Amino acid sequence: LDNGLALTPPMGWLTWERFRCNTDCDNDPDNCISEKLIKVMADRLVADGYRDVGYKYIIIDDCWLAPERDNITKQLEPDPKRFPNGIKHLADYVHSKGLLLGIYEDFGTKTCAGYPGSEFFLMHDANTFASWEVDYVKFDVCNSDPKDFAAAMSFYLNQTGRPMVYSCEWPLGEYARGIKVDYAAVKKVCNLWRNYGDITDSWESVKNILGYYAINPGNFSNFAGPGGWNDPDMLVIGNFGLSKDEQKVQMGMWSIMASPLIMSNDLRTIDNFSKSLLQNKRLIAINQDSLGIQGTLFNTLGQLQVWKKPILPKGSYVIAIIHTADDGRPTKASFHPSEFGLTDSDGYRVTELFDGNSVGTYKPDTLFKISVNPHGIVMYAFIPVTDNKLYLL
Ligand code: GLA
Repeated sequence: LDNGLALTPPMGWLTWERFRCNTDCDNDPDNCISEKLIKVMADRLVADGYRDVGYKYIIIDDCWLAPERDNITKQLEPDPKRFPNGIKHLADYVHSKGLLLGIYEDFGTKTCAGYPGSEFFLMHDANTFASWEVDYVKFDVCNSDPKDFAAAMSFYLNQTGRPMVYSCEWPLGEYARGIKVDYAAVKKVCNLWRNYGDITDSWESVKNILGYYAINPGNFSNFAGPGGWNDPDMLVIGNFGLSKDEQKVQMGMWSIMASPLIMSNDLRTIDNFSKSLLQNKRLIAINQDSLGIQGTLFNTLGQLQVWKKPILPKGSYVIAIIHTADDGRPTKASFHPSEFGLTDSDGYRVTELFDGNSVGTYKPDTLFKISVNPHGIVMYAFIPVTDNKLYLL
């Protein structure tokens, strides 16, 4: 969507995967979907350094609404007990911290969790979100046929005059119905779009999503770029389900796939490993590379998958090699950079991206040896040696 927003993949934090539809503030006051939870997470985003590396949007997913619209004005209302000061107050709080506020709605009669949807009220609701000074809206597709509504909502949001990133699940709705997605149409109206099922806190889920992005139906990767991104769903790093290697796979692959980096985790209890992985400046720089090209599966190397993404400076590439199969031991392999299309005869300076170690200079025909853990990843930047400017990598 050409609205001047999301020129690089949006980064932030979202309630859904980790906090779900917990509305029980009486028994679980620290974890229910509420003003309190959003404020606490906003505080953590700032105090623990996430905002400063780019995680700027804090997004309230489903279950923030009161059970009905206002009787007379028909305006959406947040649950009065859980959001006692309203959404505008929360937006002010979030903005005072240098963050931006996102909110969830649905094109249909009801949201997926059964709260009032936007059908028949698209313009009204766009105006409400603008008046609350919301910066990002996520629109879901439960109980609706999004084809008719996604473009209309894009128009109404634009008409408010307030810049709001527009995340829509339209392609996921089509996928679920077995309809071929018209990505050109989606890209025209949305800033980011979900196109595959909901992530859960498990390796199985991460692996399934990567499988879909590997197949890349309709070449959806080609539609990614400044202003519009494929969204493989939230980062679940720092929760219960992924091993250290699996967390590295998610962070590395979401970076190489130019995916939105939207965490859903508990920033109050996250450990140092996950925190520093999420804040890895090299991976974030690759994700946020201004060319905005989505990395894709390039080749396989036995059981391993080789993914490739062009980045700046010109002629540079990131290569990620993952091992998604179950095996008891690390897999050793070797390749020549030329096999992956790295053919600059002057050679490349190569940096390992998780730790930032330089691993030397490689010509297209120099043998490169790797060892990849089961459910693991290795990832390198190849930058032409002829480029002698200083880069973050
Ligand atoms: C759908 C979406 C999720 C989340 C839930 C909320 O399943 O795909 O991301 O927003 O609805 O109910």
